[in-house]
Amino acid sequence: MNDAPIGIFDSGMGGLTVMRALALRLPREQFIYLGDTARLPYGTKSADTVRRYALQAAHALTGRAVKLVVIACNTASVSLAALQEALKPLPVIGVIEPGARAALKAAPQGPIAVIATEGTVKGGAYVRAIHEISQAPVVQQACPLFVPMAEEGLTSGPIVEAVAHRYLDPLMATMPKPRALVLGCTHFPVLKEVIARVVGPDVILVDSAATTAEAVAQLLAERDLARAAPPGPHHFFATDAPDRFARVGEIFFGKPIDPGSVEQIDLQ
Ligand code: DGL
Repeated sequence: MNDAPIGIFDSGMGGLTVMRALALRLPREQFIYLGDTARLPYGTKSADTVRRYALQAAHALTGRAVKLVVIACNTASVSLAALQEALKPLPVIGVIEPGARAALKAAPQGPIAVIATEGTVKGGAYVRAIHEISQAPVVQQACPLFVPMAEEGLTSGPIVEAVAHRYLDPLMATMPKPRALVLGCTHFPVLKEVIARVVGPDVILVDSAATTAEAVAQLLAERDLARAAPPGPHHFFATDAPDRFARVGEIFFGKPIDPGSVEQIDLQ
């Protein structure tokens, strides 16, 4: 079991930002990544549909004998409890709680701003997760256009700047001004430079990738699940356009993805 890979999934390539942090924190581990590129975005879909997609993605990973599942998608984290129940006793970790903890570490008294997909904002998971620990005020803003821009590999330039101003200016005008901004969608870290410029240097950007990696490392240690074998090659699955996944995925993963390591699968 210890030498089995860790399974990670997202609606598309955004979760590669989480896998990047995981691979950095846990260099001995082997990862299997699944991007449901055929059905992206999840963020505009109903919670029931996202839950169904998430269960299918998780089952595709457990069918490949993973030892742990990471939901590298804030929107799909709506299905965390359902997946934990369905996959028992396999551990399942989401990105919302680690993100909430990281936000409170950055700005313990708040105010905390959360940018995410429509689904995550509507579901209010960040507000709940933060308020379970603290009474820090939280404001939210859905930024749906950030997802297709990121998947397009469009991470800078006038279009991204204009969209960022449209979403972030009103959010930053709330009083008192937020002290921390949670990138509550795993696609958003690739837009970090533009986002940081638009919100200004006094706002701390919070990305849940590193805290999620820490949570996974802790769980592996607690359950004595760390890999003993030498690191194996990572494997990627996409539900559509695997060649495009390898090409554009590099922006999210931070290093080249061998097209030969990306396979197309159907989910059901
Ligand atoms: N990467 C997903 C998240 O973290 C959202 C992208 C989508 O809308 O599919 O919420």
